[in-house]
Order: sequence, then C-alpha cells, then structure tokens
Amino acid sequence: MAHRFLSRRVCQPQYSFLKEQSSIPRAFHPQFPKTPARRTYATGESGPNPKPGQSPFKVWPFIAITLAGSGAYALMVNSRTEQIAAPKKDVPVFSPSKVTVLFVLGGPGAGKGTQCANLVRDYNFTHLSAGDLLRAEQDRPDSEFGQLIKDYIKDGKIVPMEVTVQLLENAMTDVVKQAGGKGKFLIDGFPRKMDQALKFEETVVPSKFVLFFDCPEEEMQKRLLKRGKTSGRTDDNEESIKKRFKVFVDTSMPVVDYFRKKNQVVQVIATKSPDEVYKETKEKLEQRLGKDF
Ligand code: C5P
Ligand code: MG
Repeated sequence: MAHRFLSRRVCQPQYSFLKEQSSIPRAFHPQFPKTPARRTYATGESGPNPKPGQSPFKVWPFIAITLAGSGAYALMVNSRTEQIAAPKKDVPVFSPSKVTVLFVLGGPGAGKGTQCANLVRDYNFTHLSAGDLLRAEQDRPDSEFGQLIKDYIKDGKIVPMEVTVQLLENAMTDVVKQAGGKGKFLIDGFPRKMDQALKFEETVVPSKFVLFFDCPEEEMQKRLLKRGKTSGRTDDNEESIKKRFKVFVDTSMPVVDYFRKKNQVVQVIATKSPDEVYKETKEKLEQRLGKDF
C-alpha cells in the first residue's frame, strides 16, 4: 500500500513538469521564449551594442532562475525522501517487561536441545525450538509451506524468515494467553540469520540475550552422525551436515557477533559431557540473571 501511494505521489503532474524541465535543455524547451537569449536579456544600460570587454549578457537572471529551480527540486526530493525514509514501524507484540526471551544458539549438534530440556526442568522456561516448529509445519497436511520447508531443511538452508518468525509468534501467543499475559522462553536454534533477528525483535519482542554453546565441528559431526542412526531426520547425514556447518559459519555466526557487540552473549563451552556443560550453563546464567531467574 505504502509503495503504491508513493508512486502515485511521484507521478503527479507538477512533478512531471519538473522532470521534463530538468531533462530538456532550457533553450530547446517548447515553453522557452522563441526570441534569442541575447535580445531578451541585453537591454538596459549595456544596450544592444555593449562596450568592448563588457559582456552582452546580464548573468544575474540566469543565476536567479537556476537557484529557484534548484530550490524547487530540492524541496521535491526532500518531500519524497521523507516519505521513503519513514515507513510504517512495526510495534512488538509483547513487552520485554512481561515476556522474557533468551535466544539459544550454537552449531548443529552443539547440544542446544539437551541443555534447554535441563533449563525447562529447573527454571520453568517454555522451550520453543525453531527447527521443531518448522518440522511440525512441514508435516501439517494443509500447510502451504510444507514442501518449501522440506527442501530448505534437507539442504541445510535457512527457511525464509517470515515463516519461522510467524510460527514462533503463534506458539508464544498461545503460551502467553494461557499464562495470563506473561512468559519466559528459550528460543532454540533461532535467530540463525540477521534478518530473523531483526524481524523478531522488531515485531515480536526484544530478547534479553543469547545463550551461545560453543563447540568444535569435529565434536558436533560425531554427535550428529550418532544421532542420525535413530533421529529419522533428513539432514543428519554427512552431506547435509557439511552444508549446515557452512551455513552456520557464514550466516549464523554473524548473528552471535552482532549480539556480542551489544554485550548480549553468554557463552558456554559445549565440548564436555552434558552434565558438565549444564553446570557451566547454570553458573553463567545465575551470574547474569541472579539465582531466581
Ligand atoms: O535447529 P535445527 O537443527 O533443528 O534446524 C534444522 C533446520 O531447520 C536448519 O538446518 C534449517 O534448515 C531450518 N531452520 C531455519 N531457521 C531456524 C532454525 C532452523 O531455517 N531459525
Ligand atoms: Mg535442536
């Protein structure tokens, strides 16, 4: 809608006149006086036969016209820029004073799901895994995105953010409604790309921070191949894992770096056993949030 409005404004007759004026040299413009410039402006004290060394033209009318033209053009550009630079701003659905969100990130196989389950047990979080929500949507018989999600997941690519953000918002809304307007969420495997991060924080709720599980690729690959024997997932195989690692480094690490610059990353070494990783996770979260988070 906004764009249609903009283009209508830009095409209004007064603007097309300005456009025409700027694209056709003044001397050849149909509205320009047919009499030569010399005769029109060479009047008054310089007269028709100027003294030697004196210009037959008076320059100030040209300067005045040029300045007036530039002024009008600048005004037009300004008014257009204001409209373009002030698009409708989305307001987040939830307030961070009522809805707490921790993003949980880490490479595939870093142990995000395992640690989230521990935190749910001990701290009453609601755990939402973006990957699980996408897989559920992919399997929903009437879903218009089923095939698209299937293709993206198999290839380890990031599903277009509109789909994932909407699934998360829907799931959160259900929980918050049931809990009387409040919620405490671990959003696992999200945001995996900068556009997801920005869209979510702008339209759903700003996050508190990112819990980042840092694990080397060899360890993650070992875990994923083991999981692949029983998980039934189309992406727990060597070929998909390689693609997922590359996407993680190229696309998801910039998200971690973005939040790190804002001092919003709590990092945990995720190489050790699940119990040891959880011990460090609890300690770091308590440091950041206090004992009763
Ligand atoms: O987190 P998980 O490993 O379950 O994600 C599986 C796949 O789901 C990813 O490789 C990706 O294709 C998709 N996904 C996504 N955006 C997210 C989370 C997952 O596109 N935020
Ligand atoms: Mg997971």
